[in-house]
Amino acid sequence: MRAERLTEFGSLFSLAGRTALITGASGGIGAAAARVLAAAGARVILVARSLDRLEDAAATLRATGTDALALRADLGADDGISALVAALAAAGEAPDILVNNAGMIDRASFAEVAPSRWEQVLGLNLTAPMFLSQALAPAMRARGWGRIVNVGSILALQGKKNAHSYTASKHAVAGLTRSMAAELGQHGICVNALCPGYIRTEINTVLQQDPEYGAMIAARVPLGRWGETGDLAGPLLFLCSPAASYLNGHMLVVDGGMTAVH
Ligand SMILES: NC(=O)c1ccc[n+]([C@@H]2O[C@H](COP(=O)([O-])OP(=O)(O)OC[C@H]3O[C@@H](n4cnc5c(N)ncnc54)[C@H](OP(=O)(O)O)[C@@H]3O)[C@@H](O)[C@H]2O)c1
Repeated sequence: MRAERLTEFGSLFSLAGRTALITGASGGIGAAAARVLAAAGARVILVARSLDRLEDAAATLRATGTDALALRADLGADDGISALVAALAAAGEAPDILVNNAGMIDRASFAEVAPSRWEQVLGLNLTAPMFLSQALAPAMRARGWGRIVNVGSILALQGKKNAHSYTASKHAVAGLTRSMAAELGQHGICVNALCPGYIRTEINTVLQQDPEYGAMIAARVPLGRWGETGDLAGPLLFLCSPAASYLNGHMLVVDGGMTAVH
């Protein structure tokens, strides 16, 4: 049965009948993730703080025939996750796929790292994926099928100055991905991380405006350019799809080759 399914190309990447929740879906990588998962047939639940942007994205998806729901949540707030979980329960939603994408960076030098900002970055980038996954995994477990994708970074694998809390949080996301894979795999839930390189979004506007940074990207990325959110669509869909049925605890690096070369 399973072997048959895996030889049918169409069903390898179909998410028909699945519901995917994407955090940080009001823009950037999360909005692009919602578009590709919807294109593969999933119902999508878009989560972030900016309800207007979420509603716009959901309306665009609905216009193409996708069932899309926008839910406001501040995943960095103390009660942010419990409020989101309550809203999901009230709406009768129990996603099959969770993309833990919402994230932030603090570009402080080592001497300037402030405890409050440290807590904020760790809270959103690491604590939120942990406890949102903990809340949503039981329904996936009950169905014997689930996909959790934690959005890491090449800074889950390498260090970088002026990004201490971010780098620490993303390394921890790599560890969390592997520990979740170890425990949830037995229930049919695959947990993997998508680790993007430099993708042009709002999180790095300041770097995009710096010609020296552009030159560094051109020199160090073998593909010679910034990544675009569309470059992540295929890899993200793969991690969420039936095609990834035996992929668990994997760090999928999508960086134009940057970390593959010296
Ligand atoms: N772009 C890159 O080069 C790159 C590289 C590696 C990894 N990443 C990772 O990719 C993920 C997405 O980043 P991006 O590049 O798409 O950045 P982005 O354009 O700044 O998007 C960040 C998203 O997170 C949401 N968000 C921020 N704070 C939140 C909060 N407290 N509660 C709920 N949602 C919140 C934002 O929406 P609201 O403001 O509406 O809440 C937005 O939708 C992050 O985890 C980032 O670390 C990005």
